Amino acid sequence: MNIGNFELNGYAALAPMAGVTDRAFRELCMEFGSAYCTSEMVSSKGLIVHDRKSELLINMSEKERPCEVQIFGNDPAEMALAAKKAEQTGCFAVDINMGCPAPKVAAHGSGSALMKNPELAGEITNACVNAVGIPVTCKIRSGWDEDSINAVETAKILEKAGASAITVHGRTRRQMYAPPVNLDIIRRVKEAVNIPVIGNGDIFDCRSALEMYEKTKCDFAAIGRGALGNPWIFSRINSFFETGEIPAPPGIEERMTVMINHIVQLCEYKGDYVGIREARKHAGWYIKGIRGAASFRREIGSLESTDDLRRLAENVIKSVMNEGEN
Ligand SMILES: Cc1cc2nc3c(=O)[nH]c(=O)nc-3n(C[C@H](O)[C@H](O)[C@H](O)COP(=O)(O)O)c2cc1C
Repeated sequence: MNIGNFELNGYAALAPMAGVTDRAFRELCMEFGSAYCTSEMVSSKGLIVHDRKSELLINMSEKERPCEVQIFGNDPAEMALAAKKAEQTGCFAVDINMGCPAPKVAAHGSGSALMKNPELAGEITNACVNAVGIPVTCKIRSGWDEDSINAVETAKILEKAGASAITVHGRTRRQMYAPPVNLDIIRRVKEAVNIPVIGNGDIFDCRSALEMYEKTKCDFAAIGRGALGNPWIFSRINSFFETGEIPAPPGIEERMTVMINHIVQLCEYKGDYVGIREARKHAGWYIKGIRGAASFRREIGSLESTDDLRRLAENVIKSVMNEGEN
């Protein structure tokens, strides 16, 4: 599929996740076949005032291209300036966050609060489209709450405002990340607009990716939580769609090797102190589902160095191997 003139390969892309989809994780998911990736959401105000933390969030490398930058805000003029700044990174598109449920974002009329004000969402989109020479995409939810499901109306407004593609997370703001995603609303958006629609929500494996495509007829799929500790979800889905066969999951040694490489990269980009602290949540995700995972929680909580991480990986491998022999 295409976003603007950019042709994307593969069948799924990494969805933006604040606090997770940093440069190290984006690079890793691209290596495993994510079609493109998106920065963590970044504040338009932060970008305009050259806030250091915001600028770091849009720092990207060649290894993670094509990458888009996601911005949030509630003011069309500010968002246009931020989009221009994002464009300077060489990103292939600017994405506008219209789904973040966090009070610190939504309480100011940004993120998911824009679902309550589709006209403003359209103005913001149009201001960004006019400000940059690259595609502008939008990421929406099904609505603000169950009484105001308006993804179809909103998507039409965004298309008219010049959006090049729309990602639809099939849940309302009130639903946060549960219950199961509403695929029907994604299908209805797809039927209502002529720009590409990217289906998002609850893709955790090859079968749920297929279900997303079949039930919604979406043009592409975005994966958030399904990629946590599981970056090979992209290569497995790509292979599944190409061959019709579900590939075997990676073995424990490969999983641990990928985890270590991921964390080493994370520490390189963020420094050992921050990197190893952030590594704790990733390590928990990498060993999720492994029998006896709970017994490693304490070890994960006290990780202080990449040597500790290597020891953890060895212990996990030993434990899984022993299980297999019993
Ligand atoms: C920890 C976390 C952080 C997120 N941060 C963002 C964000 O910065 N921007 C955004 O548009 N969506 C964000 N999301 C939403 C995801 O992109 C995605 O829409 C949602 O998780 C549903 O997809 P999934 O079921 O594949 O996880 C976040 C989700 C999680 C779990």
